[in-house]
Amino acid sequence: MQWFAQAPSNIALIKYMGKSDEAHNLPANPSLSWTLKHLVTSVSLEKIPGRKDRWEPLETPGSAPFSLSKSAETRFLEHLSRMKAYFGHEGAFVVRSSNNFPKGCGLASSASSFAALTRCSVEALCELTGRETPSVEEQAALSREGSGSSCRSFYSPWALWRDETVCAMDFPCGELFHQVLVLSHEEKSVSSSEAHRRILTSPLYAGRTQRAEDNLKTLIAALEHNDWAAAAQTAWREFHDMHSLFETASEPFTYRTPEVRNFLNQLEMHWQDTGDGPIVTMDAGPNIHLLYRPDQTGLARALMQDKWLGNCDVL
Ligand code: PMV
Repeated sequence: MQWFAQAPSNIALIKYMGKSDEAHNLPANPSLSWTLKHLVTSVSLEKIPGRKDRWEPLETPGSAPFSLSKSAETRFLEHLSRMKAYFGHEGAFVVRSSNNFPKGCGLASSASSFAALTRCSVEALCELTGRETPSVEEQAALSREGSGSSCRSFYSPWALWRDETVCAMDFPCGELFHQVLVLSHEEKSVSSSEAHRRILTSPLYAGRTQRAEDNLKTLIAALEHNDWAAAAQTAWREFHDMHSLFETASEPFTYRTPEVRNFLNQLEMHWQDTGDGPIVTMDAGPNIHLLYRPDQTGLARALMQDKWLGNCDVL
């Protein structure tokens, strides 16, 4: 017996950084993300004899072979165990997964991976136990236990997550176009679980919850009123806030490398010169995410053809 499911990634403009409850991945502050429908993880589950689950890459014709680090594989299998315990099922599976986007390109794949594994195991375990399919809310809450940011991947086009509640949001800006400037292909040296812990030691952490709340309020108002410049300004302030926490922790780390700063300066200059531009954000990695309105595709194309910011890989 086999099951298959997919789930998208998401990029937060108001960041989830810091937990109020580490055991259940409850966030210290609310976050707001845009769902990246085109960047997906696929997961399949196959029933096997015995009690021990195992992970394998999912072969997808035409894609590069997919791999997971030992620790990522363990975390993934632990989430499958959590799902099985929730449904009271003890049988074993081989779980296969792959992403349709390259590794090390600055995309947090944990959001799409955990959301896809949750969906696929819900399908399998409902069929095997005869239980009813849990609601989307319940599935998002289960997924959150594996990876916090994955709970937002169940909602689109935008997702708002506060405490135990996630909901979809929509704004008049329409379908956004997403690009990543891939400035480093290296694996992250500080995991996001570790980042959530380290930032608590920053002197800037005091007041962080309030700053995130303020940024969220301003961003929602800007998006509701189609005030793109105010939305971009708020997203800019917000990711710099998270990166300042990283750099001022007692064990500091940084993703704002000289190359990243150079690209950020160019983006800032573009905004200053033209009064317009993409929304810019950075996740926990040395790569820059850009979101464009539907009428800005010319600008996005110019960037891909190296006519705008200079040479870098664009995804
Ligand atoms: O879901 P986690 O624990 O991998 O946290 C990810 C947090 C950030 O990606 C850095 C920000 C966010 O809100 O997605």
